[in-house]
Amino acid sequence: MCGIVAYVGQQEALPIIIKGLKRLEYRGYDSAGVALLNQEGLSIYKKKGKVSELENHLNGLSNLNSKIGIGHTRWATHGEPNDVNAHPHYSSSEKFAMIHNGIIENYDVLKRDLMNKGYVFHSETDSEVFIKFIEDIYVNNYCSLEEAVRLALHKVVGAYAIVIMNKEEPDTLIAARKGSPLVIGVGDEEYFLASDATPIIEYTNQVVYLDDYEIAVIRNGKLQIKTIENVETNPYINQLEMELEAIEKGGYEHFMLKEINEQPRSIADCMRGRLDAKNGRLVLGGFRDYMNKFQNADRIIITACGTSWHAGLVAEYLFEEFARIPVEVEYASEFRYRNPVVNERDFIIAISQSGETADTLAAIELAKSKGATIFGVCNVVGSSIPRATHAGSYTHAGPEIGVASTKAFTAQISVLTMMALKLGYQRGTLPENRYMQLLSELETIPSKVEKALQLNDKIKEIAAEFKDARNFLYLGRGYNFPVALEGALKLKEISYIHAEGYPAAEMKHGPIALIDEEMPVVFIATKDSSYEKVVSNIQEVKARKGKIIAVVTEGDTTVRHMADHVIEIPETEEAFVPLVAVVPLQQLSYHIAVMRGCNVDQPRNLAKSVTVE
Ligand code: F6R
Repeated sequence: MCGIVAYVGQQEALPIIIKGLKRLEYRGYDSAGVALLNQEGLSIYKKKGKVSELENHLNGLSNLNSKIGIGHTRWATHGEPNDVNAHPHYSSSEKFAMIHNGIIENYDVLKRDLMNKGYVFHSETDSEVFIKFIEDIYVNNYCSLEEAVRLALHKVVGAYAIVIMNKEEPDTLIAARKGSPLVIGVGDEEYFLASDATPIIEYTNQVVYLDDYEIAVIRNGKLQIKTIENVETNPYINQLEMELEAIEKGGYEHFMLKEINEQPRSIADCMRGRLDAKNGRLVLGGFRDYMNKFQNADRIIITACGTSWHAGLVAEYLFEEFARIPVEVEYASEFRYRNPVVNERDFIIAISQSGETADTLAAIELAKSKGATIFGVCNVVGSSIPRATHAGSYTHAGPEIGVASTKAFTAQISVLTMMALKLGYQRGTLPENRYMQLLSELETIPSKVEKALQLNDKIKEIAAEFKDARNFLYLGRGYNFPVALEGALKLKEISYIHAEGYPAAEMKHGPIALIDEEMPVVFIATKDSSYEKVVSNIQEVKARKGKIIAVVTEGDTTVRHMADHVIEIPETEEAFVPLVAVVPLQQLSYHIAVMRGCNVDQPRNLAKSVTVE
């Protein structure tokens, strides 16, 4: 949450920062601001609203030339979204300006101390406290700014990625991180800093991922990294593999639509080099090294949040069916605040698109402290979760920019499916002929998703009919229960229609009371082991005049006679249905949201990377 960008070099900083902030807007879009330094001094410009509001504001101004600058796009935590609470923030003397992503938990104590010393605060933010605290140390210790930052970082509690400019050092940026991401792009005597690599990719593909408790000082075209214990470290330069086109809309109206349509390719990318059905080969690098431990685990605990948690639920069915190991799926935010019974014989799988979700990170640390082995399933390369886990597999879905997760979900399920099949085969719980059959079917999934995407026009018609509904119910059983949850989440987060997902059989224990002629009910009723039961549930809704939209297997005639609308998806193995069945539900929520005039890529109150707890 919150995106930060900074530049120092020979180019004009402002266009680089504005473009970068637009790329990071998925992280927060409550307000935006920049700080620039030139002969006029150190100036801050900020505006409530999106980066485009800031851009409009800057359009009428002069003296914006600067070869150094910092910028921020905010997801409000402390204080409402307005111009004053927007970043950057000045220190008291206005000698320093800072951008901050994260939360300072002890800001209140620090603020009271500073107020007792006569400091005045203009905003309600923890970030203003942070920079004023740094300046207080700077003044009282007669030390350099980097030393003041270092000392301050020993005192602040919480999470941060910060970048600071000093009015008196026009060639210097100081950055630090703990718990919030920070990537440094290394150019030719120029540096780009950002919350992720997307603002950097068009200038350089060489990046350094700053680690927790590290401070980077870029001065005079040189980068130096030290720990907060003042020990110099050797910056490790990574080669970015991301393509620029992957982070652009490529002719689509929204990133979400592009990402929904990318799924045949993203699922194939996820399987590429790993799955070779013809030769019965399934190789997942990080997984192979931990196979022994995994095979002998007493229990698998899956921890994640939101959509990633739904992928975890699908994985529970997969691991239990194929590998016969008991699985528990935990909301990271609940797991970390219990006193869970975890030990060294447990295998933990942490799933996260961003790799930065604070609750998931905290759950990992907790399980690690109890001796468990932690395996990450993440999309963003180099993010915090892959670095906090013992091993892991990337999902290779490519950058997901739309706030509502789509292609990351199917890529997560693809990785988890491959893991479950491999584990089942290794443990002998999945016989070879069945394993080979499943591998062959898995290879056909990208083309089946491609076919499912062709239902778009039909789904648009359904969307037009139901766009004004006030509530929706999504029902499914078995593997399709998590799909129902995911369908409901997609609808509520981008269209603001209340939607609930339920196991279909649970309907009679409460939700059935909601059903009347106003209630659209989406059934995922594919031909599987619970098909007959779901058909009975459809009858129950029909008897109460609910409107039925059913996702069914191609050629199904039974449900066609009961439902108001059927969406026919290609047939596949029961265990792989979620990969195909979720696609029309993503499209349905997308079209409803567009028809309701909602901002599908940046829904209200949400941010893509939830780095607050
Ligand atoms: C929903 C959505 C969120 C995320 C959740 C976890 O569309 O995107 O529910 O799934 O915030 O995020 P990651 O996967 O980045 O840990």
